[in-house]
Amino acid sequence: MTRLRDRVALITGAASGIGLACARRFADEGASIAGVDLHAPAPEAWKAVEAAAPGAWMVDGVDVRDEDRLREVVDTAAGRFGRIDVLVNAAGVGGGGVAHELDVAEWDRVVDINLKGTFLACKHALRHMVAQGSGCIVNLASVEGLEGMSGTLPYNASKGGVVLLTKNLALDYARHGIRVNCLCPGLIDTPLTAGLTSDDSAPIRDQMIAWHAMKRLGRPEEIAGPALFLASDDASFVTGSALVVDGGWTAGRSIELPGQ
Ligand SMILES: NC(=O)c1ccc[n+]([C@@H]2O[C@H](COP(=O)([O-])OP(=O)(O)OC[C@H]3O[C@@H](n4cnc5c(N)ncnc54)[C@H](O)[C@@H]3O)[C@@H](O)[C@H]2O)c1
Repeated sequence: MTRLRDRVALITGAASGIGLACARRFADEGASIAGVDLHAPAPEAWKAVEAAAPGAWMVDGVDVRDEDRLREVVDTAAGRFGRIDVLVNAAGVGGGGVAHELDVAEWDRVVDINLKGTFLACKHALRHMVAQGSGCIVNLASVEGLEGMSGTLPYNASKGGVVLLTKNLALDYARHGIRVNCLCPGLIDTPLTAGLTSDDSAPIRDQMIAWHAMKRLGRPEEIAGPALFLASDDASFVTGSALVVDGGWTAGRSIELPGQ
């Protein structure tokens, strides 16, 4: 398991869900890990990362909207590990509402964390990647960045922005030997979607599960695998892509025929 041997991976949102699963998987594949998050990971969860990647470094209390703090952390990680080969942007939040009732503060919260935060982490990691002449970025977008969904305006707008941020960065930085891609997951079972597993939300959860051809939620590890692919040399000719990993959500509509 050495697909990221001698690589340094900086992961935002590393304390939970998809970011934590990426930290574990990338560590198993030989990467050195620098994690950044607003919150601390569960100690047991981070111990598993450290077991596979001795020296793994986790900084909590960092808000990806805070450019000065983020720059400081990115520069410290680059100094500590010598370089930044891979950036995974997994810090993110959900958020809903319809336009005429939506507070601007809620719009700003969701768009600033999901889109501006992703831009800021890219901006400061790219300074190091350009100097190295190599690097790779994996952003977490969503199927909701490709399709609309009723009642979740700021989230979809932010994730649509992440898709095009990704494509523009791919164009601007290919000449520097840097690849930039994003993942578009369907619904994944993480703390972000935990609200959907309450009894009150069962009807919504069941509708959303039914949108997936595979009729189930994804697991964080099922996003970490595709993230590993994009971060590894197996994806050496892949840049500017929005890789859909959605159990068939966006494949189309299926009809349940009588008797089947
Ligand atoms: N879970 C899903 O169904 C799903 C589907 C598609 C896309 N995504 C995206 O994947 C990414 C990871 O989501 P997840 O499901 O693992 O969620 P999660 O809630 O488990 O993890 C998100 C992490 O981001 C951190 N975070 C939130 N705001 C932050 C901030 N301002 N600064 C720094 N860190 C912050 C949280 O502390 C948390 O550790 C998000 O961008 C999310 O939108 C998730």
